[in-house]
Order: sequence, then C-alpha cells, then structure tokens
Amino acid sequence: MDTVATYNDKVVRQFSIMVVVWGIVGMLVGVIIAAQLIWPVLNFDVSFLTYARLRPLHTNAVIFAFGGSALIGTSFYVVQRTCHIRLAFDKLAAFVFWGWQVVILLAAITLPLGITQSKEYAELEWPIDILIAVVWIAYAIVFFGTIAKRRIKHIYVANWFYGAFIITVAVLHIFNNLAIPVSLTKSYSLYSGVVDAMMQWWYGHNAVGFFLTAGFLGMMYYFVPKQAERPVYSYRLSVVHFWSLIAIYMWSGPHHLHYTSLPDWAQTLGMVFSIILLAPSWGGMINGIMTLSGAWHKLRSDPILKFMIVSLSFYGMSTFEGPMMSIKTVNALSHYTDWTIGHVHSGALGWVAMMTIGTIYSLLPRLYNKDGMYSTKLIDVHFWTSTIGVVLYAVALWVAGITQGLMWRAVNADGTLTYSFVESLKATYPYYGLRLVGGLLFFSGMLIMAYNVWKTISNKQPVPVAVLDPA
Ligand code: HEM
Ligand code: HEM
Repeated sequence: MDTVATYNDKVVRQFSIMVVVWGIVGMLVGVIIAAQLIWPVLNFDVSFLTYARLRPLHTNAVIFAFGGSALIGTSFYVVQRTCHIRLAFDKLAAFVFWGWQVVILLAAITLPLGITQSKEYAELEWPIDILIAVVWIAYAIVFFGTIAKRRIKHIYVANWFYGAFIITVAVLHIFNNLAIPVSLTKSYSLYSGVVDAMMQWWYGHNAVGFFLTAGFLGMMYYFVPKQAERPVYSYRLSVVHFWSLIAIYMWSGPHHLHYTSLPDWAQTLGMVFSIILLAPSWGGMINGIMTLSGAWHKLRSDPILKFMIVSLSFYGMSTFEGPMMSIKTVNALSHYTDWTIGHVHSGALGWVAMMTIGTIYSLLPRLYNKDGMYSTKLIDVHFWTSTIGVVLYAVALWVAGITQGLMWRAVNADGTLTYSFVESLKATYPYYGLRLVGGLLFFSGMLIMAYNVWKTISNKQPVPVAVLDPA
C-alpha cells in the first residue's frame, strides 16, 4: 500500500488508550495521598507507600504520563490533519510512543524507591533525564518534520501552540536538569543556592505555562471548533494571544519565590509579569468560549462540548486566581497553604483533565471509525461526576487555605501566636475530607470513561485506513 496516501493513526490510538490508563493510575495515587493526609496510617509503615514518595509519583503520573500522552498523541493527530500529510518518520513516531512509556515505567519504579533529584516536577534522576531528552528530540523531529513536508501553505494556529510547547519543554528540561552524576542513581545540580531555586522555578512555572497550558491550548484550538462545528471565533486574537502568552510566561517564575533570598527586584518582576499574564490567558479563554457563538444550543445535547466549555471556564478562573496569588501581599497569605493546592487542581483537573477527557471522547470514535462513543449517557454522567468533583476539591481547599493563612498570622496583643500549628491542622481536617470526596468523584468518572472506551473499541470491526483529505 502507498504509505503516503494514509495517515499514521496507530501511534495516536496507542497514546489515546494510555491517556485513560495513566489518568486512572495517576488519579488513584492522588486519591491515596489525599486519604493519607487524613489517615497517615494508610502508608502501612512501608517506605514505598509513604506520602513523600507517592506524592511525586502522583504529580509525575498525572502531568507527564496522563497529560504528556494526551499532548503527544493529539499533536500527532492534529499536525497530520491540518497539514494534509502523513506523519513524518513512522519508526521514529513509534520510538516516541515506546520511549515515553519506558520513561513513565522508570518513574513508577524509581520514585517509590526514593530515588530523586528533589526538584519538584523534575525529580527523575539523570539517566532517565537523558532518555527524556532523546525521546523529546525524536518527538520534535517527527512533529516539525511533518510541518516541513506539509501540503498546505498555512500553518494552523494549533500547531503553533504545540510547536511552542515542544521547543520550550526541551529547553526547560535540558537546562534545569544539568547535573553532575556521582552514581547511577544520584547526581548533584550544576547550580547552587538561590541560582538553583531560580532555575527550578523558571522551569517549574514554564512547565505550567507550556506543558499544562500552551500544549492544551493547541488541543483546544483544534478540537473545540471541530466538536462545535464552528470556525475559531477570532483567528487574529489567537495569533496575538499566542505571541503575548509565550513572551510573558518566561518572566513569571519568581512568583514562586516571594519572600525568599531571591533579590527583591526579581520577585517584583515576576509579580508584574504574572499580572500582565492575565490578558493573553483570557484571550485564549474568550476565543475558545466564543467559538461556540451560534452553537450554544449544542451544550444541551452534547456532553463532550460541556467538558470543553467547563474546562475553558476553569482555565479562565485559574488564570485569574494565579495573577492574584502572585501579588506579594496576597502571596504572603496563600503561600505554604492549601490555597495553592486548590489553585493547582482548578487548573489541573478543571482545565487540563477536562479538556483532555472531552478531546479523547471526541477523537476516539474517529480513530476507531465508529459513529460515536458507546454511550453518550455515560459521558454525561462522567461530566457531572468530574464537575462536582473538581468544584468540591477547589472550594474545600480555598476555605482550608485561607483558614490556615489567617490562623498562622493571627497574633495576640502581647505579640505571641494565637494558634499553634496543630490547631490549624485540626481546622483543616474537614476540608481534607471534602477534597477526598471530590477526588473520589473525579476518579470514579475516569473508571466510567474506561468502560465506555472499552465498549466503544471492543466492537471487532476492522479498522479501515484513514485516507488523506484533498490538499
Ligand atoms: C482524582 C484526582 C486527584 C486527586 C485526588 C489529587 C490529589 C492530590 C493531592 C492530595 C496532592 C498533594 C497536596 C499536598 O501536598 O498538600 C496533589 C498534588 C498535586 N497534584 Fe493532584 N490530584 C488529582 C488529580 C490531579 C491531576 C489530573 C493533575 C494534573 C494534571 C494533578 C496535579 C497535581 C500537582 C501539580 C500537585 C502538586 C501541587 C503543588 O505542589 O503545589 N492532580 N494532588
Ligand atoms: C496567568 C496564569 C497563572 C499565574 C500568574 C499563576 C500563578 C501562580 C502562583 C502565584 C502560584 C503560587 C506560588 C507559591 O506561592 O508558591 C501558583 C502555583 C501553581 N500554579 Fe499557577 N498560575 C497561573 C495559572 C496556572 C494554571 C493554568 C495551572 C495549571 C494548569 C497552574 C498550576 C500551578 C501549579 C502546579 C502551582 C504549584 C507550584 C508548586 O509550588 O509546586 N497555574 N501559580
């Protein structure tokens, strides 16, 4: 068969299935650590199951395994469809899939063993980091190679976002992980002291900006118009907010280091750029939501669109909240409290996970040549469990966080602290319980999704080869 006349959907199918698998694994670990915060005995005195080891396992699994598989898989789909050409380098694309899965497995082994660089979201030790760099460069070659041989002159905006995500993550990963190895499982960062902290949060914040934001905006720019059957609301806005978003994100990292030994001017710079960041972020949110102009009635019957619209609303909320939290006086209250965790999950569950879920529901029937998912009703049930779940999660931790912040700073007339730390912890427990309920709801939605996906694809019709769109 002439391979040039078909799309490479195999690799997209593989990534899509792993999105569901890793979503379940990562969120299950999230539920376990949420329960451990209430009942520490749940670590059963086993070192591999302690909170400190499972927490990075959770963050790596949800961000890199669940989110990463969604981003790489959908980018491979979108770049082929919008360039009207088959993916460049089939074998390299297969290497990207298997290489990424090996990275995830190595993370799942080493993190519970306590092998870590102790840098948040960059915990993995140097041999795995090298593998990540190799897989990522292969990914870039496949993606940009496909763009280079495109049959359409124009490069659709979704590819700009995916492209920025791919290039930036490569740069962030390589520079933040520069280290001197002392053994196979231990290395020391090339940077020291406050420079190390600055590098880490330049990386950390841009991981939010490019992994958890730009890549998902790429997904949004293809799948929301597709699902709504409407063109993007404003193409001009998409270009303007693309350039402003990537230019401004780079400078905002210091808001993670307020009131530290980082020079004060750098903290203020981070704060100012974070506040400006509201504008391009909302540019994307408005563009996504307004794409539904004239199609609002579809929200009544299409739960996939509901996932996407609620996701965009959470994107708007978390990118309003973030700039507020970056203001030094607000951060003085919120930092170290559960408010941060609430903010994280209104972005991570509300925006990232809900956009991913909606996209997979939209994409899967196309990949397996079905008329639609097995059950629309179950998608609707999933929509409600997720929405209620994330609302409970975020609200519980807003209240918990503000309570903690206020209790920690309360002082008596003689200058002594009004509350001990344990008192603030006791006040937090009810909210931890509520967060656990929210997390369990969100997690149970993923199980419903797995069933729906299984029923959709287990229908044993042969998968026909997808033929190229006319140029
Ligand atoms: C069922 C769903 C989930 C539950 C129950 C859950 C639970 C948790 C818990 C208990 C923590 C530790 C909080 C702390 O240290 O106080 C945490 C941290 C975190 N989770 Fe989740 N999570 C879920 C889904 C997700 C998803 C889908 C993502 C990303 C796409 C995510 C990203 C993160 C991040 C980035 C952190 C670290 C936050 C920080 O250090 O500030 N979580 N999660
Ligand atoms: C305009 C956009 C945003 C700004 C200005 C912003 C700002 C902030 C600020 C000020 C913090 C607290 C830092 C601290 O006190 O330690 C924070 C934490 C965080 N935000 Fe955002 N945020 C934005 C959007 C988002 C989105 C959309 C997500 C997720 C998809 C996200 C994920 C996170 C994570 C994971 C952390 C915790 C980092 C850590 O300490 O481990 N943020 N953000």
